[in-house]
Amino acid sequence: MILVTGGAGFIGSNFVIDWLANSDEPVLNLDKLTYAGNLQNLNALKGDDRHVFVQGDIGNADLVANLLHQHQPRSVLNFAAESHVDRSILGPDEFIQTNIVGTFRLLEAVRQYWGGLAGNAHDKFRFLHVSTDEVYGSLSSSEPAFTETHRYEPNSPYSASKAASDHLVRAYHHTYGLPVLTTNCSNNYGPFHFPEKLIPLMIVNALAGKPLPVYGDGMQVRDWLYVTDHCSAIRRVLEAGVLGEVYNVGGWNEKPNIDIVNTVCGLLNELRPRTDGKSYLEQMTYVADRPGHDRRYAIDAGKIERELGWKPAETFETGIRKTVLWYLDNPGWVADVQSGAYSTWVEKNYMARA
Ligand code: NAD
Ligand code: TYD
Repeated sequence: MILVTGGAGFIGSNFVIDWLANSDEPVLNLDKLTYAGNLQNLNALKGDDRHVFVQGDIGNADLVANLLHQHQPRSVLNFAAESHVDRSILGPDEFIQTNIVGTFRLLEAVRQYWGGLAGNAHDKFRFLHVSTDEVYGSLSSSEPAFTETHRYEPNSPYSASKAASDHLVRAYHHTYGLPVLTTNCSNNYGPFHFPEKLIPLMIVNALAGKPLPVYGDGMQVRDWLYVTDHCSAIRRVLEAGVLGEVYNVGGWNEKPNIDIVNTVCGLLNELRPRTDGKSYLEQMTYVADRPGHDRRYAIDAGKIERELGWKPAETFETGIRKTVLWYLDNPGWVADVQSGAYSTWVEKNYMARA
């Protein structure tokens, strides 16, 4: 079996569902269930005994050691993290705890476990660390996309904490020989995306008749990848990646934020027109910028394409349509994630920007 951490979050839950659709190998899913973790994302696996869920912290060394000992996974895939830049600006503590200290504790537990394995189990073991393109910092409009050798220049507490975790993973390979793989992926979108991030926030706010808050001039560029394409890249890296190597993952889909908002509004105008016949774009409003806002991310995915033969299956056009349709089809999921602490976050992040 494999051990997935953070498998109740956006990408982790998509990965677990995807994994079990492609293989019969069981998944042990360790997730703390923070505000971003949601067992509803895993409803499709109810009653499926190939999926075992454990609520817990990657930083809990005893728990992780016991799970490794008991379940003897052949690989550990680390998705668990605090993942939202705006939250890292307003409260970095949890980012340091989970992304840095948590990853360190996880690595230590895995190192002990791996050290005790013998033969094939030892040689075939992998620790795959899921990271982000944000560790490379910000590009100007004329610079080439990030390759794996781009220097680390993280600018937010989130990206700095992810960068630190990447360095720890690297160090555990160089110092202890731990068989690690790292992926640095661009912005994902798709089902189960928590509506604090740009695309789901725009969809749910539009449908609720709320403002669509665009930070600054809206000309910041992100490189977007449909989430199941990220999942297939991770599967491929786990299968064939060279130990100690880093693989950038992206969809060659650079878009300014304002284009994203336009596209989402256009799809909603078509699929769920406003009752007054006006465009959802009328709800768009410019708000104060994010402090330290990175201007542009772009991933050069040439290495994973050339060396591992991976390619995304979705274009931005097919992926964004699927995504909007998913949110239209799942109002119950949206209502549930918006109850409780969600409204406190929205108030905290957007009140000061208006
Ligand atoms: P998410 O915030 O939706 O989910 C994170 C999950 O981790 C949640 O289920 C949460 O409960 C769990 N978690 C948090 N702290 C934990 C802890 N201490 N122990 C165990 N579980 C814990 O994040 P996501 O968007 O699914 O991102 C998953 C990973 O992919 C992260 O490492 C992130 O840095 C990386 N990544 C994300 C993107 C993106 O666009 N979302 C892009 C590239 C890389
Ligand atoms: P986000 O989804 O938070 O991802 P990241 O910051 O990790 O790239 O934001 C994507 C882009 O959208 C980023 O440039 C910030 C911008 N943005 C807005 O303009 N308004 C919003 O309400 C949010 C959440 C993000």
